[in-house]
Amino acid sequence: MSNRSDFVKVVKNLGPELYCHSLFVEECMGVLYDYFELNNTLGDNKISKNNWLIAGFIHDVDNFGEYKSTHPLKTKEVLSKYGLKINKQINDIILAHGPEITHVFPESLVQWSLLCADNLVGLITALVSNNYNGIIDLKTDVILADIFRKPENPNSTRRKKILMCSKIDGLNIPLNKFIDICFIAMKKCVKIHCLQ
Ligand SMILES: [Fe+2]
Repeated sequence: MSNRSDFVKVVKNLGPELYCHSLFVEECMGVLYDYFELNNTLGDNKISKNNWLIAGFIHDVDNFGEYKSTHPLKTKEVLSKYGLKINKQINDIILAHGPEITHVFPESLVQWSLLCADNLVGLITALVSNNYNGIIDLKTDVILADIFRKPENPNSTRRKKILMCSKIDGLNIPLNKFIDICFIAMKKCVKIHCLQ
């Protein structure tokens, strides 16, 4: 399987917004993994932390142009154009964050993590309108207010998916705790990578 530095070249090529989004989701996956490990709730997870991170980093690699309408079905195809490969484990994680298209529904901890974190990162980024520095001062209650604001665009499933973080047979993390965990990850990311 290819390594992170190979994936970085491809994702960077997709533009700064998608690159930053990918870094945010990757960082969230790492912080979530650490959270479950610390709380002894990784359960039957057999996926390495490295694979959680890679899935987070490349989950949107086919989310552009001609591939957008089938995202995330064509991840392997896009990567293969760059001579890169992922294993089935990682592909299965990525497929489950687009169940409407792939008909692969999240079941495992890592699949739920990607689905929920991706949508929360999207919402937080929209709130700061790509001014990533704004994330440093954003507060949990502002996100909560936005999630529960009515009405939502009927075509958007983002809020519904974020709320799934508290599903008992999914992540089983209360919403405000889930937001705090992803905030820690995103703030770390802003300081380390995103503004360079
Ligand atoms: Fe995404």
